[in-house]
Amino acid sequence: PPPTAIAPSILAADFAHLADAARAVEGSADWLHVDVMDNHFVPNLTIGLPVVASLARATPIPFDVHLMIEDPARWAPAYAELGVYNVTFHAEACADPVALAKDLRAAGSRAGLAIDRDTPIEPYLDLLPHLDTLLVMTIKAGFGGQAFMPELLAKVRAARARADAQALSIRIEVDGGIAADTIAQAAEAGADAFVAGTAVYGAADPAAAVDRLRALARR
Ligand code: DX5
Ligand code: ZN
Repeated sequence: PPPTAIAPSILAADFAHLADAARAVEGSADWLHVDVMDNHFVPNLTIGLPVVASLARATPIPFDVHLMIEDPARWAPAYAELGVYNVTFHAEACADPVALAKDLRAAGSRAGLAIDRDTPIEPYLDLLPHLDTLLVMTIKAGFGGQAFMPELLAKVRAARARADAQALSIRIEVDGGIAADTIAQAAEAGADAFVAGTAVYGAADPAAAVDRLRALARR
């Protein structure tokens, strides 16, 4: 299996100094998690293509872009064309996830599907062979700093069971409330990629926080 991936979320960083936030974890993070919110799919607004493009020129870390936007088919391929490593869009916003995943792969990125708090996993299990990443929200999407919801790990278990049964190399990623006291249970449920905002950028030493999370995520 691929090694554990830790993805600090810059949502918890200082938006006036995003390049510094990226550089602070360059030696320790696997991916930089970039939350794109449009104030429609979620009631919050962050950054879009121009800022992500500029930030990508400022750091070599592979980007894990999490699109919390309506009509992702309109925007997602442009992120792939920027050279983003993984582009994840939400199931709730997309009529044809398999088609969009195909478009993303054709545009040169990995393709991820995100499942929000209130969305069941079962209708999406058959789609796993078409995806590189399944992002299981462990909060309701929209804001950082929320409390981890352990009951949502049932979805991770279901996805891991299916992925293992079919010998898929898909990444199963968790996002929301991941910290030193929650990451081990997410790993135990079968997650192998972990987003952490507050737990990394709220720490005095973000790089050390990443290393600590990785050590706690070993299954
Ligand atoms: C929220 C975002 C998360 C957020 C997580 O919708 O998708 O990536 O940054 O923040 P924490 O780690 O603080 O829960
Ligand atoms: Zn996110």
